[in-house]
Amino acid sequence: MIPLPLARIAEITSGALSGMADPRAVVRGPVVIDSRAVEPGSLFVAIKGARVDGHDYAAHAIRAGAVAVLATRPVEAPAVIVPDAAAALAELAAAQVRTLSNVTVIGVTGSAGKTSTKDLLARLTARVGATIAPQGSFNNELGHPLTVLRADLDTRFMVLELAARNIGHIKELTRIAPPQIGVVLNVGTAHLGVFGGKEAIAKAKGELVESLPRSGVAVLNADDPLVRGMATRTEARVTYFGRGESASIRAEGVVVDARGRASFTLRTPSGAARVSLQLYGEHAVENALAAAAAGYELGLPVATIAEELSEATARSRWRMEVTDRGDGVTVVNDAYNANPDSMKAAFSAFEVLGKGRRRFAVIAALRELGEDGPALNAELGRLAGGAGLAGLIVAGPDAEPVLAGAHAAAQASAPQAPTGPAQPPAGPAQVPPGAASGAPAYQGQPGHGQPVRIVHVPDAEAAAAQLAAWLRPGDAVLIKGPRAMGLERTAELVLGGATQ
Ligand SMILES: Nc1ncnc2c1ncn2[C@@H]1O[C@H](COP(=O)(O)OP(=O)(O)OP(=O)(O)O)[C@@H](O)[C@H]1O
Ligand SMILES: [Mg+2]
Repeated sequence: MIPLPLARIAEITSGALSGMADPRAVVRGPVVIDSRAVEPGSLFVAIKGARVDGHDYAAHAIRAGAVAVLATRPVEAPAVIVPDAAAALAELAAAQVRTLSNVTVIGVTGSAGKTSTKDLLARLTARVGATIAPQGSFNNELGHPLTVLRADLDTRFMVLELAARNIGHIKELTRIAPPQIGVVLNVGTAHLGVFGGKEAIAKAKGELVESLPRSGVAVLNADDPLVRGMATRTEARVTYFGRGESASIRAEGVVVDARGRASFTLRTPSGAARVSLQLYGEHAVENALAAAAAGYELGLPVATIAEELSEATARSRWRMEVTDRGDGVTVVNDAYNANPDSMKAAFSAFEVLGKGRRRFAVIAALRELGEDGPALNAELGRLAGGAGLAGLIVAGPDAEPVLAGAHAAAQASAPQAPTGPAQPPAGPAQVPPGAASGAPAYQGQPGHGQPVRIVHVPDAEAAAAQLAAWLRPGDAVLIKGPRAMGLERTAELVLGGATQ
């Protein structure tokens, strides 16, 4: 950050110095909310969370070298006392951005792919100048200002991920760091429950392009009607990316290799170049095009863009991480998070990657979908049950709609199933002791003469135990569920497990 004396920090945040804080003491950063990340010169922001209260760590932070604590009540340490720590953090970040006149802020939003696109775009901007981008998914009211506060006088680009958990959120994030370029990926069904409909989600995401100045650029996905429709909501110039002719930055001749990695010709108004992605899943094309379009606006040559996109591997973890075990079992760890759209994307990538092999999947019921939850989860079950898997594991709570959908799809794709459609037979589940929670296993006869086994297990560990019983050399496994299920643990166990 740009160094600031405590007196100035108090002024910006409308705070009061306490605990013998020296108004002339200078904070040089980093600004942190985790006392373990404090360095000499830090400002420690005490956040009161559901489980931990940062105020309890104030003295520890000072001992570790923090200059002061930004707190909402007096602590036994030099502090700036404010009514609301998150709001104060936002003010501090906004003030810093105002002093950084050489920085171009680029905002990325959408229902799926923000982090992946941000990571690709940060590679491109780094070719031009010093770049700040959030680690992982730092995209909310705390992560966003904390990222912004990492900038200093050398910074040329900030590539920020903007998440909308409700109307007005993105507007607030753009107030903190006003973007010159706004990238909108897609409008899907993530957090549908909070918003109550796709149009409302589009309204929230469109706040990014509404914030752009006349001199800015809106980078919109031509293939998503709700995103294309945002063109009327901005004063900025609009440019489109996509697969069709109407997009000025587009992918032509997309082919996907046996591992599910896409190659295409990147076409721009000033030339074309071949891109071979190392990222898994065809949905990565959309993210690559979005990054390419923003990079193109910054004046990067097409050849450079193509080179960087082709070299990129996943920077943030648990997003389509593909690992081959010693015995040839391929594990696709997409456990970072899940929504209906990213589930579809993952299953279609998995179908390509696991072609000709026995395929298994571990999934969990999707959350935050409001009253559409049961229907969307049943749809997820149908997707998984009809995906030609050898075995499906549904982990965790609220699994009933998923299981029902999966059983229905499994039966539908099993024309010679020996039993009637109403009740799955209570055949032997082939589950190791303690793994399954008692739900019946269905053994139908879908294509390839292979039984689809569907089991319900309580958690990530039990899912791994079930996989251990099922997996044979050469099989492929997809692991994907909502963040709260922590299914990366399943992947960890399966990959750490003894090879058979
Ligand atoms: N363009 C896309 N379309 C559909 N699914 C995608 C796309 N890009 C990434 N995904 C999938 O969505 C999941 C999340 O990806 P990523 O972390 O990039 O998205 P995000 O928008 O940052 O998510 P979050 O809102 O959780 O921060 C991953 O499982 C990934 O495989
Ligand atoms: Mg993210």
